Amino acid sequence: MNLLPRWRVGLVSVLQPLSGDTLMADLASLEARARTELDAANDETALRAWNTKYFGKSGEMVAALRDIGSVPKDQRPAYGQQANRIKETLTTAYETALQKEKERALERSLTSEAHDVTLPGRQPARGRLHVATRIMREICAVFADLGFQIYRSREVEDDLTNFELLNMPPHHPARDMWDTFYTKTPGVILRTHTSPGQIHVMRELCPEPVRVILPGMCYRYEAITTRSEIMFQQVEGLAIGDSITMADLKGTIVAFARRMFGDKREVRIRSSYFPFTEPSIEVDMDCIVCAGKGWCLCKGTGWLEVMGAGMVHPIVLKNGGYDPEKFSGFAFGMGPQRITMLRYGMNDIREFWKNDLRFLRQF
Ligand code: PHE
Repeated sequence: MNLLPRWRVGLVSVLQPLSGDTLMADLASLEARARTELDAANDETALRAWNTKYFGKSGEMVAALRDIGSVPKDQRPAYGQQANRIKETLTTAYETALQKEKERALERSLTSEAHDVTLPGRQPARGRLHVATRIMREICAVFADLGFQIYRSREVEDDLTNFELLNMPPHHPARDMWDTFYTKTPGVILRTHTSPGQIHVMRELCPEPVRVILPGMCYRYEAITTRSEIMFQQVEGLAIGDSITMADLKGTIVAFARRMFGDKREVRIRSSYFPFTEPSIEVDMDCIVCAGKGWCLCKGTGWLEVMGAGMVHPIVLKNGGYDPEKFSGFAFGMGPQRITMLRYGMNDIREFWKNDLRFLRQF
């Protein structure tokens, strides 16, 4: 550090009365020196060191200002003015230099650590809807076009709604068609089909006409095989009005099948039995998986059952609040998993809930 001016001022003050001219000359040389040094400081550290040297607690500029007390009285104003002017200009010069240095540093880091914004970015992994969700939405869209509304119904049911009100009293042999998951609460079960939803809809909408579908999960206590799972989706359909016939049911089914699978698919309707429909039918579609050769879930028959259906049984209509003398209706229940398997030629229903990405990514 250059201590000369302090030393000189101190020495002069001891040896001889202070001359204003000398002090003014000291100020001028201090300014010149500070300027030169400031110009030479070429990074932030050097600039800050410069600032400490001149403006720190024992800085030279601070000392020069303090020295005003030792200047002969008549020269004090001139000295003070000069010292203050130098202080101002040096401070401004320092701040400007510091600012410029910061900009230069930023510029340096931008050029030396530049990012190539033209490089293609990393593609984030995009999810997709599960194939079961996609088909379910497709089925809902087809029925929406046919004028059906979507009605949500519970998955946890009571024995009354899942069986009794659907014309299956306790110990009715038809209950054997649905192996049931019971809970520890008596009478509370997981629904074995979406049909109990029919009762909920009817009781809510009676005596209005009904045209709804009820999509959702069902549960059956069954052995898991390539053809059956313990959980699966169903889409129930229900139409009630004053002159609904079997022809309406058939027309609806065929319109649906053609929309889902194209005009070329064959639909077969067989007579069947369900306690809650009379008469009852089952609907098959021709199997494209093996074309009847027998190694897939059609068991070699060439036909795959996709839904049960029929005219709503008078007892069920009555349980829903409708007078069977005035109202009639049809109902159907289909398995979207079956429909998906038909659509894509799948032969194992277990793929649906296995969560194997190799399977799921195909859709
Ligand atoms: N609930 C029946 C089943 O799960 C299907 C069905 C629904 C049949 C509506 C007739 C009418 O097998």
